[in-house]
Amino acid sequence: MKTIDDLDVAGKRVLVRADLNVPLDGATITDDGRIRASLPTIADLASRGARVIVTAHLGRPKGAPDPAYSLAPVAARLGELLGKDVKFAADTVGEQARATVASLGDGDVAVLENVRFNAAETSKDDAERGAFADQLAGLADLYVGDGFGAVHRKHASVYDVAHKLPHAAGRLIAAELDVLKRLTDNVERPYAVVLGGSKVSDKLGVIDNLLGKADRILIGGGMVYTFLAAQGHEVGTSLLEKDQIDTVREYLARAEANGVEFVLPVDVIAAAAFAADADHAVVTADAIPSDRMGLDIGPESGALFAGKLADAKTVFWNGPMGVFEMTPYAGGTRAVAQALIESDAFTVVGGGDSAAAVRTLGFDENAFGHISTGGGASLEYLEGKNLPGLDALEG
Ligand code: 3PG
Repeated sequence: MKTIDDLDVAGKRVLVRADLNVPLDGATITDDGRIRASLPTIADLASRGARVIVTAHLGRPKGAPDPAYSLAPVAARLGELLGKDVKFAADTVGEQARATVASLGDGDVAVLENVRFNAAETSKDDAERGAFADQLAGLADLYVGDGFGAVHRKHASVYDVAHKLPHAAGRLIAAELDVLKRLTDNVERPYAVVLGGSKVSDKLGVIDNLLGKADRILIGGGMVYTFLAAQGHEVGTSLLEKDQIDTVREYLARAEANGVEFVLPVDVIAAAAFAADADHAVVTADAIPSDRMGLDIGPESGALFAGKLADAKTVFWNGPMGVFEMTPYAGGTRAVAQALIESDAFTVVGGGDSAAAVRTLGFDENAFGHISTGGGASLEYLEGKNLPGLDALEG
Protein backbone atom coordinates (compact mmCIF):
# COMPACT_ATOMS: atom_id res chain seq x y z
CA MET A 1 0.00 0.00 0.00
CA LYS A 2 1.44 3.36 -1.02
CA THR A 3 1.51 6.18 1.51
CA ILE A 4 1.46 9.92 1.01
CA ASP A 5 5.26 9.84 1.06
CA ASP A 6 5.07 8.15 -2.35
CA LEU A 7 2.98 10.92 -3.89
CA ASP A 8 4.25 14.04 -5.57
CA VAL A 9 1.61 16.46 -4.33
CA ALA A 10 3.00 19.97 -4.93
CA GLY A 11 0.48 22.07 -6.82
CA LYS A 12 -1.93 19.10 -7.08
CA ARG A 13 -5.53 18.93 -5.94
CA VAL A 14 -5.60 16.13 -3.37
CA LEU A 15 -8.92 14.70 -2.19
CA VAL A 16 -8.52 13.38 1.36
CA ARG A 17 -11.21 11.09 2.79
CA ALA A 18 -11.00 11.70 6.52
CA ASP A 19 -13.19 10.45 9.37
CA LEU A 20 -14.36 13.63 11.04
CA ASN A 21 -17.41 12.00 12.62
CA VAL A 22 -17.20 13.73 15.99
CA PRO A 23 -19.84 13.98 18.72
CA LEU A 24 -21.71 17.28 18.68
CA ASP A 25 -23.91 19.01 21.21
CA GLY A 26 -25.80 21.37 18.91
CA ALA A 27 -22.96 23.02 17.00
CA THR A 28 -20.43 22.38 19.78
CA ILE A 29 -17.90 19.59 19.25
CA THR A 30 -17.68 17.64 22.50
CA ASP A 31 -14.67 15.49 21.53
CA ASP A 32 -12.39 16.59 18.68
CA GLY A 33 -10.19 13.46 18.82
CA ARG A 34 -10.92 12.42 15.25
CA ILE A 35 -10.13 15.90 13.90
CA ARG A 36 -6.80 15.90 15.73
CA ALA A 37 -6.07 12.40 14.45
CA SER A 38 -6.55 13.66 10.88
CA LEU A 39 -4.09 16.54 11.25
CA PRO A 40 -0.83 14.74 10.42
CA THR A 41 -2.01 13.92 6.90
CA ILE A 42 -3.73 17.21 6.15
CA ALA A 43 -0.90 19.33 7.58
CA ASP A 44 1.75 17.31 5.77
CA LEU A 45 0.00 17.58 2.40
CA ALA A 46 -0.57 21.31 2.84
CA SER A 47 3.04 21.91 3.87
CA ARG A 48 4.15 20.13 0.68
CA GLY A 49 2.12 22.55 -1.45
CA ALA A 50 -0.94 20.38 -2.13
CA ARG A 51 -4.37 21.91 -2.57
CA VAL A 52 -6.12 19.82 0.06
CA ILE A 53 -9.81 18.97 -0.35
CA VAL A 54 -11.22 17.12 2.65
CA THR A 55 -14.31 14.96 2.30
CA ALA A 56 -15.96 13.29 5.29
CA HIS A 57 -19.25 12.26 6.82
CA LEU A 58 -20.92 13.31 10.04
CA GLY A 59 -23.58 11.11 11.62
CA ARG A 60 -26.13 9.27 9.56
CA PRO A 61 -28.24 11.83 7.69
CA LYS A 62 -30.83 10.38 5.34
CA GLY A 63 -29.09 11.07 2.01
CA ALA A 64 -30.17 14.73 1.85
CA PRO A 65 -28.92 17.98 3.37
CA ASP A 66 -29.75 18.31 7.06
CA PRO A 67 -28.27 21.28 8.97
CA ALA A 68 -27.99 19.19 12.15
CA TYR A 69 -25.26 17.16 10.42
CA SER A 70 -23.35 19.98 8.75
CA LEU A 71 -19.57 19.75 8.77
CA ALA A 72 -19.28 23.55 9.10
CA PRO A 73 -18.34 23.43 12.84
CA VAL A 74 -15.81 20.70 12.06
CA ALA A 75 -14.21 22.82 9.31
CA ALA A 76 -13.92 25.70 11.77
CA ARG A 77 -12.26 23.48 14.39
CA LEU A 78 -9.91 22.04 11.78
CA GLY A 79 -8.85 25.59 10.92
CA GLU A 80 -8.15 26.34 14.60
CA LEU A 81 -6.08 23.19 15.01
CA LEU A 82 -4.15 23.73 11.77
CA GLY A 83 -3.64 27.38 12.61
CA LYS A 84 -4.75 28.44 9.15
CA ASP A 85 -7.86 29.43 7.26
CA VAL A 86 -9.90 26.44 6.12
CA LYS A 87 -12.47 27.05 3.40
CA PHE A 88 -15.86 25.37 3.59
CA ALA A 89 -18.04 24.38 0.62
CA ALA A 90 -21.74 24.17 1.43
CA ASP A 91 -22.21 21.24 -0.95
CA THR A 92 -20.11 18.18 -1.76
CA VAL A 93 -19.80 18.02 -5.54
CA GLY A 94 -21.97 20.95 -6.66
CA GLU A 95 -21.26 24.51 -7.75
CA GLN A 96 -19.97 25.55 -4.33
CA ALA A 97 -17.54 22.64 -4.14
CA ARG A 98 -16.21 23.31 -7.64
CA ALA A 99 -15.82 27.06 -6.97
CA THR A 100 -14.12 26.42 -3.62
CA VAL A 101 -11.68 23.97 -5.15
CA ALA A 102 -10.95 26.38 -8.01
CA SER A 103 -10.13 29.09 -5.47
CA LEU A 104 -7.51 27.01 -3.63
CA GLY A 105 -3.87 28.01 -3.84
CA ASP A 106 -0.96 25.70 -3.13
CA GLY A 107 -0.99 24.75 0.56
CA ASP A 108 -4.66 25.73 1.07
CA VAL A 109 -7.23 23.46 2.71
CA ALA A 110 -10.97 23.14 2.08
CA VAL A 111 -13.64 20.95 3.63
CA LEU A 112 -16.62 19.79 1.55
CA GLU A 113 -20.08 19.50 3.14
CA ASN A 114 -21.12 16.13 4.62
CA VAL A 115 -20.67 13.54 1.91
CA ARG A 116 -23.70 11.63 3.24
CA PHE A 117 -25.99 14.49 2.19
CA ASN A 118 -25.79 12.66 -1.16
CA ALA A 119 -27.80 9.42 -1.22
CA ALA A 120 -25.40 7.88 -3.75
CA GLU A 121 -22.55 7.92 -1.22
CA THR A 122 -23.96 4.97 0.71
CA SER A 123 -25.95 3.37 -2.12
CA LYS A 124 -25.85 -0.42 -2.49
CA ASP A 125 -26.00 0.11 -6.27
CA ASP A 126 -22.47 0.03 -7.69
CA ALA A 127 -23.37 2.19 -10.70
CA GLU A 128 -25.02 4.85 -8.57
CA ARG A 129 -22.05 4.98 -6.19
CA GLY A 130 -19.66 4.94 -9.13
CA ALA A 131 -21.33 7.93 -10.78
CA PHE A 132 -21.08 9.91 -7.56
CA ALA A 133 -17.44 8.84 -7.16
CA ASP A 134 -16.82 10.21 -10.68
CA GLN A 135 -18.05 13.58 -9.50
CA LEU A 136 -15.81 13.47 -6.42
CA ALA A 137 -12.85 12.37 -8.53
CA GLY A 138 -13.54 15.24 -10.93
CA LEU A 139 -12.59 17.68 -8.18
CA ALA A 140 -9.07 16.31 -7.72
CA ASP A 141 -5.86 14.93 -9.24
CA LEU A 142 -5.00 12.51 -6.42
CA TYR A 143 -6.87 10.61 -3.71
CA VAL A 144 -5.72 9.92 -0.17
CA GLY A 145 -7.66 7.48 2.02
CA ASP A 146 -7.26 8.43 5.68
CA GLY A 147 -10.69 7.89 7.27
CA PHE A 148 -9.79 4.81 9.24
CA GLY A 149 -13.08 4.82 11.17
CA ALA A 150 -15.00 4.38 7.90
CA VAL A 151 -12.81 1.87 6.03
CA HIS A 152 -15.32 -0.91 6.73
CA ARG A 153 -17.92 0.97 4.68
CA LYS A 154 -18.20 0.30 0.96
CA HIS A 155 -19.09 3.89 0.24
CA ALA A 156 -18.30 6.06 -2.78
CA SER A 157 -15.85 8.37 -0.98
CA VAL A 158 -14.17 5.49 0.85
CA TYR A 159 -14.03 2.82 -1.84
CA ASP A 160 -15.10 3.74 -5.39
CA VAL A 161 -13.23 7.01 -5.77
CA ALA A 162 -9.91 5.30 -5.00
CA HIS A 163 -10.33 3.35 -8.23
CA LYS A 164 -10.64 6.54 -10.24
CA LEU A 165 -7.54 8.48 -9.15
CA PRO A 166 -3.91 7.73 -8.31
CA HIS A 167 -4.13 7.02 -4.60
CA ALA A 168 -2.30 6.39 -1.33
CA ALA A 169 -2.98 5.87 2.35
CA GLY A 170 -2.71 8.75 4.77
CA ARG A 171 -0.74 8.77 8.01
CA LEU A 172 -3.69 7.83 10.24
CA ILE A 173 -4.56 4.71 8.26
CA ALA A 174 -0.89 3.70 8.19
CA ALA A 175 -0.59 4.17 11.97
CA GLU A 176 -3.82 2.29 12.74
CA LEU A 177 -2.74 -0.60 10.53
CA ASP A 178 0.64 -0.86 12.25
CA VAL A 179 -1.19 -1.28 15.56
CA LEU A 180 -3.75 -3.77 14.30
CA LYS A 181 -0.99 -5.90 12.83
CA ARG A 182 0.54 -6.16 16.32
CA LEU A 183 -2.79 -7.66 17.43
CA THR A 184 -2.91 -10.22 14.66
CA ASP A 185 0.65 -11.16 13.59
CA ASN A 186 3.03 -12.59 16.20
CA VAL A 187 0.97 -11.22 19.06
CA GLU A 188 2.80 -11.13 22.40
CA ARG A 189 1.10 -13.41 24.93
CA PRO A 190 -0.84 -13.58 27.14
CA TYR A 191 -3.27 -11.76 24.83
CA ALA A 192 -6.34 -10.52 26.68
CA VAL A 193 -9.40 -8.98 25.06
CA VAL A 194 -11.97 -6.97 26.98
CA LEU A 195 -15.32 -6.55 25.27
CA GLY A 196 -18.26 -4.49 26.44
CA GLY A 197 -20.92 -2.25 25.00
CA SER A 198 -24.59 -2.87 24.73
CA LYS A 199 -25.14 -5.31 21.87
CA VAL A 200 -23.72 -8.81 21.82
CA SER A 201 -24.89 -9.20 18.21
CA ASP A 202 -22.33 -6.51 17.20
CA LYS A 203 -19.52 -8.54 18.75
CA LEU A 204 -20.35 -12.10 17.68
CA GLY A 205 -18.03 -12.03 14.67
CA VAL A 206 -15.07 -10.79 16.63
CA ILE A 207 -15.63 -13.25 19.49
CA ASP A 208 -15.90 -16.07 16.97
CA ASN A 209 -12.53 -15.12 15.48
CA LEU A 210 -10.83 -14.41 18.81
CA LEU A 211 -11.75 -17.84 20.16
CA GLY A 212 -8.87 -19.10 18.04
CA LYS A 213 -6.49 -16.24 18.89
CA ALA A 214 -6.90 -14.68 22.34
CA ASP A 215 -5.85 -16.31 25.61
CA ARG A 216 -8.49 -14.56 27.70
CA ILE A 217 -11.75 -12.88 26.81
CA LEU A 218 -13.31 -10.64 29.48
CA ILE A 219 -16.92 -9.62 28.99
CA GLY A 220 -18.79 -6.69 30.52
CA GLY A 221 -21.29 -4.03 29.45
CA GLY A 222 -24.88 -4.55 28.39
CA MET A 223 -23.88 -7.58 26.32
CA VAL A 224 -22.86 -9.55 29.40
CA TYR A 225 -26.45 -10.27 30.42
CA THR A 226 -26.94 -12.49 27.39
CA PHE A 227 -23.90 -14.47 28.59
CA LEU A 228 -25.29 -14.68 32.13
CA ALA A 229 -28.65 -15.82 30.72
CA ALA A 230 -26.80 -18.44 28.63
CA GLN A 231 -25.38 -19.76 31.90
CA GLY A 232 -28.92 -20.10 33.21
CA HIS A 233 -28.98 -17.02 35.46
CA GLU A 234 -31.89 -14.64 36.03
CA VAL A 235 -31.02 -11.24 34.49
CA GLY A 236 -34.10 -9.29 35.58
CA THR A 237 -34.86 -6.34 33.33
CA SER A 238 -31.25 -6.09 32.04
CA LEU A 239 -30.49 -5.84 28.32
CA LEU A 240 -30.95 -9.29 26.81
CA GLU A 241 -30.73 -10.58 23.25
CA LYS A 242 -32.74 -13.78 23.61
CA ASP A 243 -32.11 -14.84 20.02
CA GLN A 244 -28.35 -14.89 20.69
CA ILE A 245 -28.41 -17.07 23.81
CA ASP A 246 -27.74 -20.31 21.91
CA THR A 247 -24.82 -18.80 19.97
CA VAL A 248 -23.33 -17.40 23.15
CA ARG A 249 -23.70 -20.78 24.87
CA GLU A 250 -21.90 -22.39 21.95
CA TYR A 251 -19.07 -19.82 22.26
CA LEU A 252 -18.69 -20.57 25.96
CA ALA A 253 -18.38 -24.28 25.16
CA ARG A 254 -15.93 -23.64 22.32
CA ALA A 255 -13.79 -21.43 24.55
CA GLU A 256 -13.51 -24.23 27.06
CA ALA A 257 -12.60 -26.73 24.34
CA ASN A 258 -9.97 -24.33 22.89
CA GLY A 259 -8.45 -23.49 26.28
CA VAL A 260 -9.53 -19.84 26.01
CA GLU A 261 -10.40 -18.39 29.38
CA PHE A 262 -13.77 -16.61 29.32
CA VAL A 263 -14.09 -14.21 32.23
CA LEU A 264 -17.55 -13.00 33.18
CA PRO A 265 -18.42 -10.66 36.07
CA VAL A 266 -19.09 -12.18 39.45
CA ASP A 267 -21.13 -9.20 40.63
CA VAL A 268 -23.08 -6.39 39.00
CA ILE A 269 -24.70 -3.12 39.99
CA ALA A 270 -28.41 -3.70 39.68
CA ALA A 271 -30.67 -0.65 39.47
CA ALA A 272 -34.43 -0.15 39.67
CA ALA A 273 -34.39 1.97 36.48
CA PHE A 274 -32.07 3.30 33.78
CA ALA A 275 -31.28 6.48 35.69
CA ALA A 276 -28.38 7.86 37.71
CA ASP A 277 -30.63 8.49 40.71
CA ALA A 278 -32.40 5.12 40.61
CA ASP A 279 -32.17 2.88 43.64
CA HIS A 280 -29.20 0.56 43.03
CA ALA A 281 -27.12 -2.07 44.82
CA VAL A 282 -24.29 -4.54 44.21
CA VAL A 283 -25.61 -8.08 43.77
CA THR A 284 -23.89 -11.31 42.76
CA ALA A 285 -24.10 -12.00 39.04
CA ASP A 286 -26.27 -15.07 39.67
CA ALA A 287 -28.77 -13.20 41.80
CA ILE A 288 -30.05 -10.20 39.83
CA PRO A 289 -33.54 -9.48 41.20
CA SER A 290 -36.30 -9.95 38.60
CA ASP A 291 -37.28 -6.26 38.75
CA ARG A 292 -33.73 -4.84 38.49
CA MET A 293 -31.38 -4.17 35.59
CA GLY A 294 -27.62 -4.57 35.60
CA LEU A 295 -25.99 -1.26 34.63
CA ASP A 296 -22.34 -1.96 35.46
CA ILE A 297 -20.06 -4.77 36.54
CA GLY A 298 -19.55 -4.72 40.31
CA PRO A 299 -16.42 -3.87 42.35
CA GLU A 300 -15.39 -7.50 42.83
CA SER A 301 -15.57 -8.00 39.05
CA GLY A 302 -13.51 -4.84 38.51
CA ALA A 303 -10.80 -6.34 40.71
CA LEU A 304 -11.15 -9.74 39.02
CA PHE A 305 -10.78 -8.15 35.56
CA ALA A 306 -7.78 -6.06 36.70
CA GLY A 307 -6.13 -9.26 37.94
CA LYS A 308 -6.71 -10.97 34.59
CA LEU A 309 -5.10 -8.02 32.80
CA ALA A 310 -2.14 -7.59 35.15
CA ASP A 311 0.19 -10.12 33.50
CA ALA A 312 -1.07 -9.71 29.91
CA LYS A 313 1.45 -8.64 27.28
CA THR A 314 -1.18 -7.49 24.78
CA VAL A 315 -4.64 -6.10 25.53
CA PHE A 316 -7.39 -5.00 23.18
CA TRP A 317 -10.38 -3.26 24.74
CA ASN A 318 -13.61 -2.37 22.97
CA GLY A 319 -16.77 -1.23 24.71
CA PRO A 320 -17.53 0.18 28.15
CA MET A 321 -18.29 -2.10 31.10
CA GLY A 322 -21.37 -0.17 32.15
CA VAL A 323 -23.30 3.04 31.66
CA PHE A 324 -20.19 5.10 32.36
CA GLU A 325 -21.94 8.39 31.50
CA MET A 326 -23.84 8.02 34.81
CA THR A 327 -21.49 8.27 37.80
CA PRO A 328 -22.94 5.34 39.83
CA TYR A 329 -22.31 2.99 36.89
CA ALA A 330 -18.84 4.18 35.82
CA GLY A 331 -16.80 2.07 38.25
CA GLY A 332 -16.34 -0.99 36.01
CA THR A 333 -15.15 1.01 33.02
CA ARG A 334 -12.86 3.02 35.29
CA ALA A 335 -11.39 -0.19 36.77
CA VAL A 336 -10.57 -1.56 33.30
CA ALA A 337 -9.04 1.73 32.14
CA GLN A 338 -6.96 1.91 35.34
CA ALA A 339 -5.79 -1.69 34.89
CA LEU A 340 -4.70 -0.91 31.34
CA ILE A 341 -2.78 2.15 32.46
CA GLU A 342 -0.97 0.17 35.16
CA SER A 343 -0.13 -2.74 32.89
CA ASP A 344 3.13 -3.14 30.98
CA ALA A 345 1.20 -4.67 28.09
CA PHE A 346 0.79 -3.16 24.65
CA THR A 347 -2.72 -1.75 25.16
CA VAL A 348 -5.13 -0.80 22.43
CA VAL A 349 -8.43 0.93 23.07
CA GLY A 350 -10.72 0.28 20.14
CA GLY A 351 -12.59 3.35 19.12
CA GLY A 352 -16.00 4.90 19.64
CA ASP A 353 -17.50 4.52 23.09
CA SER A 354 -14.44 3.14 24.83
CA ALA A 355 -12.25 5.99 23.58
CA ALA A 356 -14.92 8.47 24.68
CA ALA A 357 -15.11 6.70 28.05
CA VAL A 358 -11.37 7.02 28.58
CA ARG A 359 -11.50 10.74 27.87
CA THR A 360 -14.75 11.39 29.76
CA LEU A 361 -13.43 9.65 32.87
CA GLY A 362 -10.39 11.92 32.76
CA PHE A 363 -7.67 9.41 31.90
CA ASP A 364 -4.57 10.57 30.08
CA GLU A 365 -4.85 9.24 26.53
CA ASN A 366 -1.07 8.98 26.33
CA ALA A 367 -1.05 6.37 29.10
CA PHE A 368 -2.51 3.86 26.63
CA GLY A 369 -0.50 2.19 23.89
CA HIS A 370 -2.95 3.31 21.24
CA ILE A 371 -6.47 4.70 21.11
CA SER A 372 -7.99 3.75 17.79
CA THR A 373 -10.25 6.17 15.93
CA GLY A 374 -12.24 3.28 14.50
CA GLY A 375 -14.56 1.18 16.67
CA GLY A 376 -16.44 -0.78 14.00
CA ALA A 377 -13.45 -0.73 11.65
CA SER A 378 -11.00 -2.19 14.17
CA LEU A 379 -13.52 -4.85 15.22
CA GLU A 380 -14.08 -5.89 11.61
CA TYR A 381 -10.33 -6.00 11.04
CA LEU A 382 -9.97 -8.30 14.06
CA GLU A 383 -12.85 -10.41 12.72
CA GLY A 384 -10.58 -11.08 9.76
CA LYS A 385 -12.92 -9.37 7.30
CA ASN A 386 -11.75 -7.57 4.18
CA LEU A 387 -12.23 -3.85 4.61
CA PRO A 388 -13.31 -2.08 1.40
CA GLY A 389 -11.52 1.17 2.20
CA LEU A 390 -8.22 -0.67 2.69
CA ASP A 391 -8.67 -3.00 -0.29
CA ALA A 392 -9.23 0.04 -2.50
CA LEU A 393 -5.92 1.54 -1.44
CA GLU A 394 -3.97 -1.58 -2.40
CA GLY A 395 -2.50 -1.72 -5.87
C1 3PG B 1 -17.84 5.66 13.24
O1 3PG B 1 -18.33 6.57 13.90
O2 3PG B 1 -17.63 4.52 13.72
C2 3PG B 1 -17.38 5.93 11.84
O3 3PG B 1 -17.31 7.30 11.60
C3 3PG B 1 -18.30 5.24 10.87
O4 3PG B 1 -19.59 5.76 11.00
P1 3PG B 1 -20.84 4.90 10.54
O5 3PG B 1 -20.95 3.74 11.53
O6 3PG B 1 -22.03 5.81 10.58
O7 3PG B 1 -20.57 4.37 9.17
